Amino acid sequence: MTHPLAPDRLALGVATASYQIEGAVDEDGRSPSIWDEFTSRPGTVRDGGDGSRACDSYHRLDDDLALIEDLGVEWYRFSIAWPRVVPDGTGRVEPRGLDYYDRLVDGLLAQGCRPAATLYHWDLPQRLEEAGGWLSRDTARAFADYAAVVHERLGDRVQLWSTHNEPWCAAYLGYAAGVHAPGRREGGQAHVAAHHLTLGHAWARQVLPADASVGIVLNLVPVWPEDDAARDVARGLDAIRNRIWLDPLVDGAYSDAVLEVAPELRSDDVVRDGDLGAMRGSVDWLGINYYTPMRPALPGRDAPPHPERHAYPGVGDLDLVVREPRTDIGWEVEATGLEELLRTTYERVGVPLVVTENGAAYADQLVDGVVDDPDRIAYLHDHVAATERARDAGADVRGYFVWTLLDNFEWAEGYTKTFGLVHVDRTHQDLPRTRKSSFGWVQRQAAALQRGARLPVTS
Ligand code: FCB
Repeated sequence: MTHPLAPDRLALGVATASYQIEGAVDEDGRSPSIWDEFTSRPGTVRDGGDGSRACDSYHRLDDDLALIEDLGVEWYRFSIAWPRVVPDGTGRVEPRGLDYYDRLVDGLLAQGCRPAATLYHWDLPQRLEEAGGWLSRDTARAFADYAAVVHERLGDRVQLWSTHNEPWCAAYLGYAAGVHAPGRREGGQAHVAAHHLTLGHAWARQVLPADASVGIVLNLVPVWPEDDAARDVARGLDAIRNRIWLDPLVDGAYSDAVLEVAPELRSDDVVRDGDLGAMRGSVDWLGINYYTPMRPALPGRDAPPHPERHAYPGVGDLDLVVREPRTDIGWEVEATGLEELLRTTYERVGVPLVVTENGAAYADQLVDGVVDDPDRIAYLHDHVAATERARDAGADVRGYFVWTLLDNFEWAEGYTKTFGLVHVDRTHQDLPRTRKSSFGWVQRQAAALQRGARLPVTS
């Protein structure tokens, strides 16, 4: 198969996700998702926000298409809201939901931008959660059926597909730490959710045509233990962040490192005959979302404990050290982590890679109609450079997609953390959009690519 992204240069893109931007949660037949339900519970989101309006992108398709055209990038990565398309989770298809994505895809292609579709960016139909959510195998089957429905409508025009976005978050933040929807604290059952997510991916791969380019988007991490004492917890962390996904995709097996922390996966009732075989070799390309490295440590340091420490069932007591400098969301800035991750992951998987998300939250100020965000520009510059270095070292990385187009609903952080190239003024009823300086920086990179320059360019 010809891969939609060429190997000889890095392609540029920008990424978004349905629940974070669309709004219109009860229009045109869309049913509630687990994020509608989760955000309705007090205390789940920092500012009490939800996605009911978000950036109102469902109603402002033309405005957002104009922004993408002006940005000049070659790829737009978006996700499809399952509850818009198959509102009950299975069965009946809602054509009005598909129409929205159809218009988006046609609009992109008409302006020379290529669509990259993600089938699941965390907005599970609430009805499926009530039937067990990702703890149930039936959800994996329902996902494959939904994938077929979407592909049938868009597959003639969309060439780059991903099944899941960051299944680690869906499984472990959703079913272990309980800080993302559906907000459950089920301990080791989160490993079962992880298995069903990968199974859903594999079954979706089987129903999509062999000549479609299908991948999965993982938030793999470089794991850098703070000291020798943290070696064991580092092995456990690596198992849950990296190996539990890559082992079955590459080897068709869970390694001992995974089974030690996830004994639930030793059960023949969970990992059934044929599951691992379906997973093996099921990616034509791999998406990597990278923001920060992980530095596992033992608890008891003189620092506030890390909010994600409950997201690693089976690993034992661990903490995570975050060094300076940090972005506004508290994530360490370290671009060499991306270079290392791309190199090691390419050695492990041997399929083309795309950096499907990378970006930074900074507390932007709108002053006299201008948002100047030099920190974000520096972050993007250093991470594009790191990506190019990984390519120089032989990693077959074909694309770099910025997270994200618009300031949007940042999950449990609500609207308090902004990653956009475009500022969205939420104090104003019309949600006016203002291009930040970083938007101009990406425009210049896109223009330089057209001239055949190596990125990043400085100007
Ligand atoms: C990733 C998510 C994306 C966004 C960024 C900041 O984990 O995929 O939706 O929230 O983080």
